[in-house]
Amino acid sequence: MASITSLGEFVVERQDDFKYAKGELSRLLSAIGLAARVVNREVNKAGLMEDILGDVGEENVQGEQQKKLDVYADEEFIRALKDRGEVCGLASEEREGVIEFKSGYAVSGQYVVAIDPLDGSSNIDVNVSIGTIFSIYRRTSKSGPATFDDFMQKGTEQVAAGYVIYGSSTMLVYTTGNGVNGFTLDPSIGAFFLSHPDMKIPKDGKIYSINEGNYARFPEGVKQYIKYCQVEDPATNRPYSSRYIGSAVADFHRNLIKGGIYIYPTTTSSPNGKLRLLYEANPFAFLMEQAGGVATDGFNRILDIQPTSLHQRTPLFMGSENMVKTSMDMMKEHTPVG
Ligand code: AHG
Ligand code: MN
Ligand code: MN
Repeated sequence: MASITSLGEFVVERQDDFKYAKGELSRLLSAIGLAARVVNREVNKAGLMEDILGDVGEENVQGEQQKKLDVYADEEFIRALKDRGEVCGLASEEREGVIEFKSGYAVSGQYVVAIDPLDGSSNIDVNVSIGTIFSIYRRTSKSGPATFDDFMQKGTEQVAAGYVIYGSSTMLVYTTGNGVNGFTLDPSIGAFFLSHPDMKIPKDGKIYSINEGNYARFPEGVKQYIKYCQVEDPATNRPYSSRYIGSAVADFHRNLIKGGIYIYPTTTSSPNGKLRLLYEANPFAFLMEQAGGVATDGFNRILDIQPTSLHQRTPLFMGSENMVKTSMDMMKEHTPVG
């Protein structure tokens, strides 16, 4: 039998790559893995449980309807990370301000976590893949609960980032800045095993992922790029295929494996884009670069953006290097100067 490596074993094996205290990261990632398994259990039986499906009836800080699973996942990840001694606070899509961990061990925790507990909410009720996205930083404050400024660090300062995809199988994919590795949950054992070592995105792809329903509201450069994707040109494998799930985690995961580009640009109705910098774009950008891909806002690298608020949005162009570069050329060409 081929040797198998569990997530826990892998993190311990690789902890020399990590420049901070060795045990901290493995405890933190195991807490995330635990919460992921708990959320996975609820996601898997969502169709059986009417009280899990549907809206809570409240809006979150983005003014979006909160689904019950959003709230459940938010609570489970907070619960898993609280009182462990590694994390002093969180920023979550579902909460307006910093979640300060004030008790015992937590105040001496050296890390803060930004999280999208449930990504792809609109797909919960229809049995389509959803996910969780996380981003981990060293705190910049000295001690006590996490502060707002702890989260105002550029994406380049992330010490780890990853996502969980609750799909046809459940996977946890993460990076600590030394490549990207993917683990698949064996539900019969309840453990993640290394299934996708050293993931790399192809330099070219054949898939473009964008909500084309917003076409009329896109910048001219994006419209031109979509046309480019649709042109018949066998030499460059065009036309490309259009694939858009509407769960960014699932679109990211597919494009990472197959090659492709994901674009959520500015639109005339969302002039800053839709996706959130801290817990969507930054972790995706860290993973994408570590897998050999590119992540920009159409003009500049995502990881170099200086955050100024917890829930700030950014346009996002990410994926296979050559595809993202072509889209950026078109953005530049069609942006009025002055
Ligand atoms: P969330 O469910 O966490 O609010 O995120 C939804 C995001 C992202 O997952 C997805 O790619 C995008 O919003 C879909 O937006 P549109 O419906 O506007 O295409
Ligand atoms: Mn999301
Ligand atoms: Mn979400």
